[in-house]
Amino acid sequence: MSNNVRSALVKAFNLSKYYRVSLSMFKKTLLKAVDNVNLTINEDEVLGLLGESGSGKTTLGKMLVALEEPTSGKILFNNEDLKEYVRKRRIDIQMVFQNPDTSLNPRMRVGEVLQEALEASNFNGDYSDEVERLLNDVGLDSTYKHYYPHQLSGGQKQRVAIARALAVKPKFLVADEIVSALDASVKMQILKLVIKLQKIYRFSMLFISHDLPTTVYVSDRISVMYSGKIVEEATKEELIKDPLHPYTRHLIASIPSLYSSLFNGKAQKLKDVSNELQATTPVGGCKLFSRCPYATEICKALEPPEVSVSKTHKVFCHMYVR
Ligand SMILES: Nc1ncnc2c1ncn2[C@@H]1O[C@H](COP(=O)(O)OP(=O)(O)OP(=O)(O)O)[C@@H](O)[C@H]1O
Ligand SMILES: [Mg+2]
Repeated sequence: MSNNVRSALVKAFNLSKYYRVSLSMFKKTLLKAVDNVNLTINEDEVLGLLGESGSGKTTLGKMLVALEEPTSGKILFNNEDLKEYVRKRRIDIQMVFQNPDTSLNPRMRVGEVLQEALEASNFNGDYSDEVERLLNDVGLDSTYKHYYPHQLSGGQKQRVAIARALAVKPKFLVADEIVSALDASVKMQILKLVIKLQKIYRFSMLFISHDLPTTVYVSDRISVMYSGKIVEEATKEELIKDPLHPYTRHLIASIPSLYSSLFNGKAQKLKDVSNELQATTPVGGCKLFSRCPYATEICKALEPPEVSVSKTHKVFCHMYVR
């Protein structure tokens, strides 16, 4: 399905989350974890949210599932205010986290975990059959319903966490670094599973990751995030063919050459800077100013504008203003 025929399920407008944090005993500052973000996730679409640690991905994901209250901005879900929607149908919106150890109750057997989820939904068939069907969907045989989480491997636990999220047939799933804690071969199995399940269940997904190849593998479109802001957004194909933002190119330069060579030779490392220099980045200017080899005076003074390269590809950078 092409992107322009899909309708929007989740829409965020000028979404921000600020935290007041202490710099020292007497000094406090406002940390802009998410800073004025606009975002759309369409029906039956996987949007990848890519960025390094601390860029605000989890904070953004939590706001989109109403686990975190925005400082400002608006979120629409199915054309309705998210909070209103959640009040009526919380189960349509699910999140799976990086660490299943903290998200699965250690005292509940797998079967009980899944049955509890089914009870929360409108399910009115045979619970035992449905639990087995769910286990089967995530590649576990029915004997696993008797297991406690500590009897499972990391990959198996993550399969159970995914089954629990899907038990209620959600419309929207936020998957936050769901394979980051797993080793390479298991990671690949879980990624393939998530892609397969998305095609069967047809939920929309925000796939959060710090890993570019993983994000490209799973997503239809990708939003690249740096320091609380979206810096580039494109379809997967556009991002591979024509990555524009210096930060996107920096991410490409940071992956093994086997992968980076796929990106049309556009890899370009940014300067590594000390935290002090990072902190001196001018307020109002581009957050990458002190690291970007192309930075000019305008980048220091003004926030980067949104530049549309195509209907689906935009970049927030002064360099592309014509
Ligand atoms: N409850 C909080 N109080 C204060 N600061 C917070 C809070 N939650 C997040 N932050 C800060 O907001 C910024 C973004 O954090 P967030 O967890 O959203 O990043 P992330 O992109 O998910 O990082 P990671 O890849 O490490 O998971 C960080 O600087 C973090 O320290
Ligand atoms: Mg995170």
